[in-house]
Amino acid sequence: METEILENYRKAGRILAEVLAKAGPRVELGASLLDVANFVEDAIRSKGAIPAFPCNISLDRNAAHYTPSPLDAARFGENMVKLDVGVHVDGYIADAAITVDLGGHDKLVEASHVALEAALEIIRPGIDTAQIGKAIEEAITGYGYKPVYNLTGHGLSRYLAHDEPAVPNRAMEKGTVLKDGDVIAIEPFATNGSGRISEALINEIYGFSAFRPVRLPAARMLLKEISESYKTLPFARRWLKGERAEYALMQLLRSGAVHRYPVLWEIEGALVSQAEHTVVVLDKGCEVITRSI
Ligand code: CO
Repeated sequence: METEILENYRKAGRILAEVLAKAGPRVELGASLLDVANFVEDAIRSKGAIPAFPCNISLDRNAAHYTPSPLDAARFGENMVKLDVGVHVDGYIADAAITVDLGGHDKLVEASHVALEAALEIIRPGIDTAQIGKAIEEAITGYGYKPVYNLTGHGLSRYLAHDEPAVPNRAMEKGTVLKDGDVIAIEPFATNGSGRISEALINEIYGFSAFRPVRLPAARMLLKEISESYKTLPFARRWLKGERAEYALMQLLRSGAVHRYPVLWEIEGALVSQAEHTVVVLDKGCEVITRSI
């Protein structure tokens, strides 16, 4: 990997680690979800980087893709809180997540954390992602829980927060062989439920799909703004400015110019924990770029 690119990844990772370390303690009983999301996104910008996607704050059965709505009044109760944060520097993305448990389910949090460490331990050029999935599944089932089978880690590339290859959270026969220079987000999810998630009818995160003809001028303007500001990266409904933005967004969805990232929730309503780091596959192992020092 070119030095300049690697340095951008490292900078994104360092900023993410600093922000997540400060954001974790802000997740406490009675605190506002919206305040935490704003804190995270402002802190990223103040450090000279850009959020790669809206600060995800997913509670309890929600595994991923919730971010506060524009006037979100929700406050933390005794929840299992997943903070999943993305930072980019010139399009080079770091992605990491922690679980802050306010509900006394330490073991479930530990299970995804230990699974992540088990995966990081074995990542090197030449390893098959199937082996990583096996290490994750064994660690989680060792605690008596299940991994979320239909959520995976993923590759990262410039302005693409979810690229190939998928990194399974379960053993499988054959995956993808990782090579020097690959950038991968490893994100085990553990649950005390069935191990399956599905899409909920809750959408706060969206992304640009393609330019499509739209009649409404406000929608045309919004599409231009989205494609320029976020490129192929996800954005929050909360980030949109202007009176007609919501209506324009609905038009863009209808035309296929924009797509949704629905909240992903555990199908039985069980709790989900998550741990995530981004690594660059290098030399004889990997460099964890989102680890705080
Ligand atoms: Co993430």
